[in-house]
Amino acid sequence: MLEVQNLHKTFGDLTAVNNLSFSLKPGDVFGFIGPNGAGKTTTIRMLATLLEPTAGNARLNGVDILSDPMEVRRRIGYMPDFFGLYDDTKVWEYLDFFAAAYQIGKKQRPEIIDSVLELTDLTTKRESFVQTLSRGMQQRLCLARCLVHDPTLLLLDEPASGLDPRARAELKELIAELGRMNKIVIVSSHILPELADFCNTIGIIERGALLAFGPVKDIMKQVQPTRVIRIRVLDGVARALELLQAAEHVKSAEPGEDNVIRVQFTGEVEHQADLLEKMVRDGVRVVDFREEEIDLEDVFLRITTGAVH
Ligand SMILES: Nc1ncnc2c1ncn2[C@@H]1O[C@H](COP(=O)(O)OP(=O)(O)O)[C@@H](O)[C@H]1O
Ligand SMILES: [Mg+2]
Repeated sequence: MLEVQNLHKTFGDLTAVNNLSFSLKPGDVFGFIGPNGAGKTTTIRMLATLLEPTAGNARLNGVDILSDPMEVRRRIGYMPDFFGLYDDTKVWEYLDFFAAAYQIGKKQRPEIIDSVLELTDLTTKRESFVQTLSRGMQQRLCLARCLVHDPTLLLLDEPASGLDPRARAELKELIAELGRMNKIVIVSSHILPELADFCNTIGIIERGALLAFGPVKDIMKQVQPTRVIRIRVLDGVARALELLQAAEHVKSAEPGEDNVIRVQFTGEVEHQADLLEKMVRDGVRVVDFREEEIDLEDVFLRITTGAVH
């Protein structure tokens, strides 16, 4: 468990992090989202024990970042937003160096290096010099380095920034895998859709304050209490509309192009099933019936502009 309690940081007059409290459990992949300057890096650096909180505390499996920072460091892997790799070092040497720094014995290191290389899909690059790797591979190598001591908590600060779409997709897959390995993962970004599809929990931070925190689904519900269902019929749009407008849980039904009707729906999935059944029973020829994906960017905007609190 990671328990963050009233974590607070000021720089002079500026409140960079304002009284954050949340907890995460093993397997949680937490998307820490907020615009530039919101306080993400400051929070992460406090959790990494590299920056002292002005007030508040955090505990990782009961170990306190204030009173026992060295023990916390043994249990975390921290990937900063900017990092340098050493030139003229081979991939395996680089990992060996960090494993040694974590006091892992010489005999155990090769096996550990092999396993983190495999996890980060860098096995074939074992003997390559780090400066010859692509940006995406360097990012994965940096993550591999954070994994040599098998940490409980991973702190990844904007790991996807500067990566091309393919490298991003690979990184997402890797982060999801870390969650499946039952680690706690905190991954920050200023771009919401980048995170929401593989995180189970999201937190939205703005000007140091946590505006929303919880399971991705709950947060969506909070900002968008109605679902939108797209229904396409073969013909008879007018009849379908009439039926829909009279149906339960339908807030509105609007016709669009190609015989598509967009329905604002307040019911649950069972009621969706009832609605579809009713339409078919009444002779409406339904070609397509599905819930529209919520636009995460839109949710983010609504939260950060104060539309929801
Ligand atoms: N060492 C520092 N001294 C003074 N102000 C800082 C320092 N570090 C960060 N800040 C300020 O704290 C705020 C939060 O910054 P940061 O945590 O880096 O945000 P984010 O990572 O979300 O972009 C910003 O206004 C930033 O300018
Ligand atoms: Mg930052």
